[in-house]
Amino acid sequence: MSTIAISEPEFLSLRDSIRERFGIFYDDTKQFLLQSRLQTRLLKNRCETFAAYGRYLTTSPKREEEWDELASVLSNNETYFFRERAQLDVLASEGVDEALRAGGRLRVWSSACSTGEEPYTIAMMLLDGKRIPPHNVTIRASDLSPRALEKARTGFYRELSFRATPPEMVAKYFKPFQTGFFVADEVKRMVEFFRINLLDAKAVAGVGIHDAIFCRNVLIYFDKPTQKRVVDAFAAALRPGGFLFLGHAESIMRLTDLYDPVITAKAIYYRRKT
Ligand SMILES: C[S@@+](CC[C@H](N)C(=O)[O-])C[C@H]1O[C@@H](n2cnc3c(N)ncnc32)[C@H](O)[C@@H]1O
Repeated sequence: MSTIAISEPEFLSLRDSIRERFGIFYDDTKQFLLQSRLQTRLLKNRCETFAAYGRYLTTSPKREEEWDELASVLSNNETYFFRERAQLDVLASEGVDEALRAGGRLRVWSSACSTGEEPYTIAMMLLDGKRIPPHNVTIRASDLSPRALEKARTGFYRELSFRATPPEMVAKYFKPFQTGFFVADEVKRMVEFFRINLLDAKAVAGVGIHDAIFCRNVLIYFDKPTQKRVVDAFAAALRPGGFLFLGHAESIMRLTDLYDPVITAKAIYYRRKT
């Protein structure tokens, strides 16, 4: 089967629509990545050219379903348990200390959770720390990709997801099943999954107030104005002094003045200004 080629004008037009809708930015080096990621979508919808597919996305009565498909196809869902552990330790120590001082409740939002490894890690660490009872903890977890969320809700994982997991945590919080493991029910019960587009500031504000938001390894796919838009919107979903955790390669130091950076020997994170 031959590949349907994307021309430069087709690429520029499609990438603008994608950036506008999801924030995900395909720079000039990613023309062929986009071409290859969308091949099956073109075939599925019987579009012979990328221009025809662009028209399908704007005029078809089924365009919203197609955008939902794209949300799964276009995102990079790479993740694993205990990723960038130092920030998780900050939540389990300082985050829990503050929650205990302020009445005992801890509200966490893993805002681009992909297939669920990040929020389940948070749940496991809080359970294992035994400092705060699970019924006093709320862990919300969201993503743009319906397919990633389906996998997260299933809670079944294979070897690659465990590359940074201490073996004793696997033994304690997972049940072996065929070629992988199911996350234990006590961990699963702590996490509530839902779908959200982080570009939708109204929806972000509607998620409620949290003590900590994780938004790790997502902003790298956005351009600077979109990064600012997303982190500014988080201010409406964080209590004053609340924690914002971004990925190692992501910095908002000169992007917004709504947060104070905290730089320790092991971790960098942000706190919402009071
Ligand atoms: C590389 S994963 C990061 C997963 C996890 N936070 C981690 O650090 O391991 C990036 C996730 O961001 C999600 N994403 C991309 N654009 C998004 C948007 N506009 N709104 C919500 N999630 C988005 C993708 O679907 C993907 O699952």
